[in-house]
Amino acid sequence: MDDLLHVREIRLADIGHIADYWLSSSSEHLLGMGVDLAKLPSREALALALEAQISAPLETKKSYALIWESGGKPIGHSNLNPLELGGQAHMHLHLWRSGERRRGLGTALVRLSLPFYFEKIQLQTLYCEPYALNPAPNKTLQKLGFKLEKTYTTVPGSLNFEQEVHRWKLTHERYKALGFAQ
Ligand SMILES: CC(C)(COP(=O)(O)OP(=O)(O)OC[C@H]1O[C@@H](n2cnc3c(N)ncnc32)[C@H](O)[C@@H]1OP(=O)(O)O)[C@@H](O)C(=O)NCCC(=O)NCCS
Repeated sequence: MDDLLHVREIRLADIGHIADYWLSSSSEHLLGMGVDLAKLPSREALALALEAQISAPLETKKSYALIWESGGKPIGHSNLNPLELGGQAHMHLHLWRSGERRRGLGTALVRLSLPFYFEKIQLQTLYCEPYALNPAPNKTLQKLGFKLEKTYTTVPGSLNFEQEVHRWKLTHERYKALGFAQ
């Protein structure tokens, strides 16, 4: 399966896919991820934010996104936001269509994303804080070897409502120890 999968940095042409995902996903899907529907941006605001992120030089990026491809087609994205280059960042994971979830793709694509985060961006610590009631990312992170640091209540991102989250952590050292380095 892995040879069909590919991870690359986001391009301007990907913006429409990401906007479609956020603005066309069902309320059920969005609520299941802990999204506050009232906080969803307009298509224009989302596109402007992504354009700004894509055109910013790496050294000044405040967020960073990768596109997940299968068989040459974009099927999802992973991004870092907030991002402190060379320091720490919070990761987000999204396979855009339900038919592509729960088939092992997410685990393989996060794994392929890690060298961008630890080698290109040179993070020391990668965090991911999924909604505690959303099993897919929590199980995926556990399976990959992320360590559960704590469970607490917070508003984990700009589009979220207050919720209980599990905070998963992967250090650069553990990334290497797990054999993920390229
Ligand atoms: C999170 C996500 C990227 C995981 O990718 P995936 O391809 O669906 O996950 P995988 O098939 O690689 O499964 C990894 C593990 O999670 C489990 N899992 C996946 N989806 C699950 C679900 N809905 N319920 C329970 N377990 C689930 C799998 O069984 C597997 O564990 P196992 O090997 O012990 O059986 C994907 O499900 C997704 O994009 N979901 C929607 C967006 C989302 O919720 N993002 C999280 C925001 S932080």
